[in-house]
Amino acid sequence: MAYASKLTTTDWNEEWKELQRRRGRFDDPAHWDARAKTFPTKHGSHSSYVDRFLALAAIRPGETVLDMGCGTGALATPLAQGGCKVVACDFSRGMLDAMEAEQRALGVKGVKVLQLSWADDWPAAGLGAKSVDVALASRSIATYDLGESLGKLTSTARRRACITLPCGPSPKIGRRLLQAAGLPERLGADFLYAFNILADQGINPEVSYIPSSRREVFASPEEALDHYRGLLDGGVDGIASEEKLEAVPGRLRAWLADELVQGPEGWVLREPLEVDWAFIAWDCAGR
Ligand SMILES: C[S@@+](CC[C@H](N)C(=O)[O-])C[C@H]1O[C@@H](n2cnc3c(N)ncnc32)[C@H](O)[C@@H]1O
Repeated sequence: MAYASKLTTTDWNEEWKELQRRRGRFDDPAHWDARAKTFPTKHGSHSSYVDRFLALAAIRPGETVLDMGCGTGALATPLAQGGCKVVACDFSRGMLDAMEAEQRALGVKGVKVLQLSWADDWPAAGLGAKSVDVALASRSIATYDLGESLGKLTSTARRRACITLPCGPSPKIGRRLLQAAGLPERLGADFLYAFNILADQGINPEVSYIPSSRREVFASPEEALDHYRGLLDGGVDGIASEEKLEAVPGRLRAWLADELVQGPEGWVLREPLEVDWAFIAWDCAGR
């Protein structure tokens, strides 16, 4: 049954877990091992995101940095190249292998690699309390127990923690697509849960925004409709009434009739979809 949050919660982590259960999203290393084969590194299309993340993170020269959910090293690699000591952790062996291969090719030194999950015992793996200066989780903290994951970053970092989470209900669903589908724009925005969990702990989180855009090419208007319906089917359970969900296919069809144009490569939206990331940082000293 569809569910519309009334935002009366006093426990943001329980609210988040309920949302994740309804979305059916659980942490699964096999999913990420499969994605590792094609996942971009910092040399791929994500470099403006990486530049902006690193500028906002304001890491000082020579600091020790935990990169949790490091993936193929989009942040770990430039940080090590810049002289930081990096502990790069991920639960996907495939992601770690891809990162290590690139770092070997580039001659990057100074990265300690650990296969580690958010749910593991970090001190037992050598990541004890206040063992790094800065703890990062870029696009990698949408875990089932978000409150516990945020707490682990706070307790592991001496100075600062920084994360990014989508401004919408998934990294692929931005405000424009929600508007087009007639769905609520703010409920289900992942970053709001982290912000509120931290605020409830007496932390004053800083928030900035990192714009990014997606440009997809389709063989036909039908393929575009299937694609956007599929994205929304997997992404918005838990944030809209059944009535609104039933209206989605018709609304998407009408929107695509206006927005899709045919170019030399195939069918594309007139303007690419914007899917922004919220960058959240907080002080960890004394916590
Ligand atoms: C979207 S990628 C982001 C990678 C990198 N941080 C970046 O910004 O490019 C998400 C990463 O988080 C990792 N991850 C997801 N859930 C995890 C978990 N429960 N424990 C450890 N790593 C996890 C995945 O294996 C994947 O490498």
